Amino acid sequence: MIDFSKVVSERLSRIYNVSKFDCGDSDLNDFLKNDAFSYQQKKLATTFLFFYEQELIGFLSVSADSLKLNFEEKKGYNIHQKRLEEVPAIKLARFAVDKKYQKQGIGTNILKWCVGYILAYSDLMAVRFITIDAYTERVEFYKKFGFLVNQDKRYTKKDHHVSMRYDLFNAVSKP
Ligand SMILES: CC(C)(COP(=O)(O)OP(=O)(O)OC[C@H]1O[C@@H](n2cnc3c(N)ncnc32)[C@H](O)[C@@H]1OP(=O)(O)O)[C@@H](O)C(=O)NCCC(=O)NCCS
Repeated sequence: MIDFSKVVSERLSRIYNVSKFDCGDSDLNDFLKNDAFSYQQKKLATTFLFFYEQELIGFLSVSADSLKLNFEEKKGYNIHQKRLEEVPAIKLARFAVDKKYQKQGIGTNILKWCVGYILAYSDLMAVRFITIDAYTERVEFYKKFGFLVNQDKRYTKKDHHVSMRYDLFNAVSKP
């Protein structure tokens, strides 16, 4: 078992060798190896790498987003501001843990790290939700963490992914 306090996070840069990473999903492996750097340079998504004893064990890419809540969802969050069509969010654009290290709590700890990281900046730039287009087979994993399935019709038509949100107020005391 890995002691997550010994895991180090680094912003993606060319100095890191990501070629051996294998999470078992070719699209995500391919993104990290071939696209993540140009996404970062073009400010489309920022990638963080997670290392344990110099070995790359996971990565996470994030970008700015906005979330449409339906009427009931807004009511539930007590968000009644007029003309507020969408709520500020950060998208978990890509997320994976190397096969060798899956099912040991690393993914959950990376999500916790991500919540803390976003919260740390949320006083400078308001953000309320983390969003993700989850693989259908991962929906239960995200639900366990506290993500909910988005109900607005904008999101319910997606075929291969399930649009989900995490309320950052889950991690802090509500005002
Ligand atoms: C999704 C992913 C990032 C999760 O990472 P992870 O490190 O395996 O996550 P965790 O270990 O925290 O949790 C995964 C499962 O292992 C279980 N688990 C955690 N610690 C465990 C332990 N010590 N022993 C046994 N099971 C454990 C969790 O309960 C969870 O169960 P669930 O899948 O039934 O919900 C990883 O599986 C992955 O990279 N998959 C391929 C790419 C992918 O699908 N990315 C997400 C796209 S939406």
